[in-house]
Amino acid sequence: MPGIVIVGVQWGDEGKGKATDLLGDRTDWVVKFNGGNNAGHTVVIGDEKYALHLLPSGILSPGVNPVIGNGVVVDLEVLFYELEALAARGLDTSRLRISANAHIITQYHRTLDKVTERFLGKRQIGTTGRGIGPAYADKINRVGIRVQDLFDENILRQKVEGALDQKNHLLVKVFNRRAIAVDEIVDDLLSYAERLRPMVADTALLLSEALDAGDVVVFEGGQATMLDVDHGTYPFVTSSSATAGGAATGSGVGPNRLDRIVGIVKAYTTRVGSGPFPTELFDEQGEWLRSRGFEFGTTTGRPRRVGWYDAPITRYATRINGITDLVLTKLDILTGLDEIPVCVAYDVDGERFDEVPVNQSDFHHATPILEYFPGWSEDISGARTFDELPLEAQDYVLALEQMSGTRISVIGVGPARDAVIVRHDLVD
Ligand code: GDP
Ligand code: IMO
Ligand code: MG
Repeated sequence: MPGIVIVGVQWGDEGKGKATDLLGDRTDWVVKFNGGNNAGHTVVIGDEKYALHLLPSGILSPGVNPVIGNGVVVDLEVLFYELEALAARGLDTSRLRISANAHIITQYHRTLDKVTERFLGKRQIGTTGRGIGPAYADKINRVGIRVQDLFDENILRQKVEGALDQKNHLLVKVFNRRAIAVDEIVDDLLSYAERLRPMVADTALLLSEALDAGDVVVFEGGQATMLDVDHGTYPFVTSSSATAGGAATGSGVGPNRLDRIVGIVKAYTTRVGSGPFPTELFDEQGEWLRSRGFEFGTTTGRPRRVGWYDAPITRYATRINGITDLVLTKLDILTGLDEIPVCVAYDVDGERFDEVPVNQSDFHHATPILEYFPGWSEDISGARTFDELPLEAQDYVLALEQMSGTRISVIGVGPARDAVIVRHDLVD
């Protein structure tokens, strides 16, 4: 006790990095279990701002053991770039452990990500272009390269040959690109092997022993429920399991070790990339929300699509993940609105849906049925207890809590580490 899972409720960028960081001094281990450097977590500590992509946010806390689990896809260039950048800022990154079973993103995955997106034209997903989808495709197709393969050159060469065999036909004949040489990939991967070696471990065993010893382990999800490959808005999703079940498969601990499931949810909604988004705003209110919330991607810098809070999505995420606690972030951004619209259900071609429709076309056609809550104008960024919030803000939070069916345990009122109201402790 306890294993704590952190997952995004909406389409990412809810503030998961900050939530992990918040638990930092009470945590012994932080495990990233899915995704790769498609994630972008901004964490603000004092006057310092950190942008993390591949590394788990726990790496910023001195007492924490950060782990990259087997469910992650690792771009080695990015790994060492991020480690060096943190070391240059005086952080000790030597405790990082990486699963021997994690898969590796290579140059051909990055290339394929970009060319397939171009080929999709209007149907493109708007990926981050980091090679995530092609690397997971190879994993499922059983032609992936794993971290442990770097320590046996023969095996590595055979595997890269196997992977490139088909891909070079595809690259040259379909996508009109140059073929990629086996040596080029093998040499590149081998150039990281000795630096990587001390970090590689049987992380599933380490975590299991840690849980047995009573350590606090945080499983930090990247992306979010609506981007999950099974439960999200497929095909406009990422290629990994971003929901709580992924914490078990992506780290190698049994599901019965996951004691708390914490869903991170923004007080409004954002999305980067294509796909349905019922509450999306296209007017000046959307512009206002985007600039006030500084909604520009941490990874690609793209302006995020913005919209109002969508209660059926939180209910859905609560059910899919088994969420026990919600962290409601960015409540401060809504300050200054006369009234705050919240989506309580959907209208799909004249029919009311109280829950997220299972049929993709229905969700694409869904328009929000809105309820309006009174806004507030007081600055709430200094509030540290629920009672210090204006009554309208309290009512807004209580209404969201009631609609989602799960308690809102923490409320974010600013980007800084301490800008939170804790109503219920996340670590018992
Ligand atoms: P993640 O991908 O879920 O970790 O989230 P991102 O880091 O991509 O985006 C969340 C952004 O919101 C970051 O810039 C955080 O510093 C910021 N943030 C987190 N919580 C709050 C909050 O309660 N209020 C405000 N104003 N900003 C917050
Ligand atoms: P964090 O962890 C927001 C989106 C991309 C695209 C889709 C697929 O910061 O919340 P991919 O490169 O994964 O194949 O892209 O998923 N996406 C994210 N959107 N936050 C993220 O991570 C995301 N990771 C992927 O924009 O629509
Ligand atoms: Mg992000």
